[in-house]
Amino acid sequence: ARISVLNGPNLNLLGTREPEVYGTTTLADIERRLREQARRQGHELDFQQSNAEHVLVETIHEAWRRQVAFILINPGAFTHTSVALRDAFLATRIPFIEVHLSNIHAREPFRHHSYLSDIARGVICGLGALGYELALQAAIHHIRET
Ligand code: DQA
Repeated sequence: ARISVLNGPNLNLLGTREPEVYGTTTLADIERRLREQARRQGHELDFQQSNAEHVLVETIHEAWRRQVAFILINPGAFTHTSVALRDAFLATRIPFIEVHLSNIHAREPFRHHSYLSDIARGVICGLGALGYELALQAAIHHIRET
């Protein structure tokens, strides 16, 4: 099946961006690991990053047209602001897992609320880059079961 990984604003800076919070793994490292993991298990992976909310919304619409089976999304700061991303998931009904590198609940209060968590299949946060790999494993499991 086709699985899509979406990354929101500032995640292109991973590796150098606040390494004490987000670690030193780059987004390219994460992409490489996930592609390998998906390939080994016979799935196709799309991997994208955008700093623009409308591009992420349109990517979700496009995923719907392309019959993407599952989305992993780290929405970055849009987690805490974007009704539009929430509505895109409600409109397309594509199942998704929300991923955060940092433990958003251990940080500033404005990061504790997510516009996506209550409509996500699951949420992984605080486990760094490993969270993406665990989320992909869960997505593949979900696809097998359905
Ligand atoms: C993040 C957490 C968000 O609060 C923040 O705005 C990010 C990254 C994370 O992966 O920990 O950009 O989504």
